[in-house]
Amino acid sequence: MKKQVKFFDTTLRDGEQTIGVNFNVEQKVAIAKALEEWGVDYIEAGFPIASPEDFKAVNAIAKTIKKTTVTGLARLVRKDIDAVAEAIAPAPHQMLHTFIATSPIHREYKLHMSKAEMIAAIRSDVAYAKSKVDFIEFSPEDASRTEPDFLVEAVQAAIDAGANCINIPDTVGYDDPEEFGAIFANLKAHIKHFDDIEWAAHTHNDLGMAMANAMAAIKNGATQIQGTVNGLGERAGNVDLIEVAAAIAVRGDYYNAETGIQMKRTKHMSEIVENASGIAVGPNKPIVGANAFSHESGIHQDGFLKNHQTYEILTPESVGMHSRLPLGKLSGSHAVMNKFNEMGYTVDRNMMKVIFPIFKNVADRTDLVSEADMIDIMNTYKTQQ
Ligand code: KIV
Ligand code: ZN
Repeated sequence: MKKQVKFFDTTLRDGEQTIGVNFNVEQKVAIAKALEEWGVDYIEAGFPIASPEDFKAVNAIAKTIKKTTVTGLARLVRKDIDAVAEAIAPAPHQMLHTFIATSPIHREYKLHMSKAEMIAAIRSDVAYAKSKVDFIEFSPEDASRTEPDFLVEAVQAAIDAGANCINIPDTVGYDDPEEFGAIFANLKAHIKHFDDIEWAAHTHNDLGMAMANAMAAIKNGATQIQGTVNGLGERAGNVDLIEVAAAIAVRGDYYNAETGIQMKRTKHMSEIVENASGIAVGPNKPIVGANAFSHESGIHQDGFLKNHQTYEILTPESVGMHSRLPLGKLSGSHAVMNKFNEMGYTVDRNMMKVIFPIFKNVADRTDLVSEADMIDIMNTYKTQQ
């Protein structure tokens, strides 16, 4: 049986940390509704202690969302924990997400805490959080730069204090996939009752490895992936949940995994976040970029027209997209003939022997050949007959 990978969306929290992104409460509720319909398992609705507006948004989402678990972020500090517990209280399914940075650089320079002080804080404040909300997720921030032995100690302390779910963040996108996977393998080897806990991965894209690291985590025992829609997030962003969902949809047998994501709604989900955030999706973005299912070169267009699977590993319709065969100077006669026939002309291979050089002439002088250009090309051909 395939393992169910749960999706934890943090577009409204980590995603909002993107420079220039500031969702209002109405936008946040609309995104949360779309996330629920898309099929995510957890919505991190915000960081309630951060501002009254953030509190209001988390609370409004907690009142609106019925099926999906709603969570908010708290530092491992009681006033943060109280704010999350209060903000998510109306949600039928709640989780409290609390974190403290465990790596040496954060302990020494940011928190000024010894290892012993940190373990004591984890024991006491995770237990405090547990007294407020039943379902607790604990994140050792900067886990990938934390000493492996201390990471085990911190995680075990959180579990002993009542954490149900442990999230391993690669906070600064530092690890490579082999290293990141090995963190999960090491925890599996040393944490008591590893299988009773839900294990999450939270990856950032500073070295462009957020996606590879998320997939490595799944291969090494993670059953929850944290990320954002369109890869929004601090600095270079978080892993794009759209890419993780597609990878599992296409390579589910390889990863031995499945998700509850409604793949057909993927483009729609991406557009909602694109519009609300004002951050445009790049044309080459996997799955939802304008070029993700476009084929321009002659060899690719010919192969695609013979069998779409020659150059498409998933059907664009399955994620709410469409294939495109833009015509340009690299296009072959098969695609050009196909386009004329789509436009209502009846063009055969013999005619193409004359039409194609006219097409190439036009294509050489422009980026993409438009329908108007195609009509001109046909008129030129006709005058030559
Ligand atoms: O990147 C990170 O470490 C975080 C934590 C708060 C989970 O966003
Ligand atoms: Zn993060």
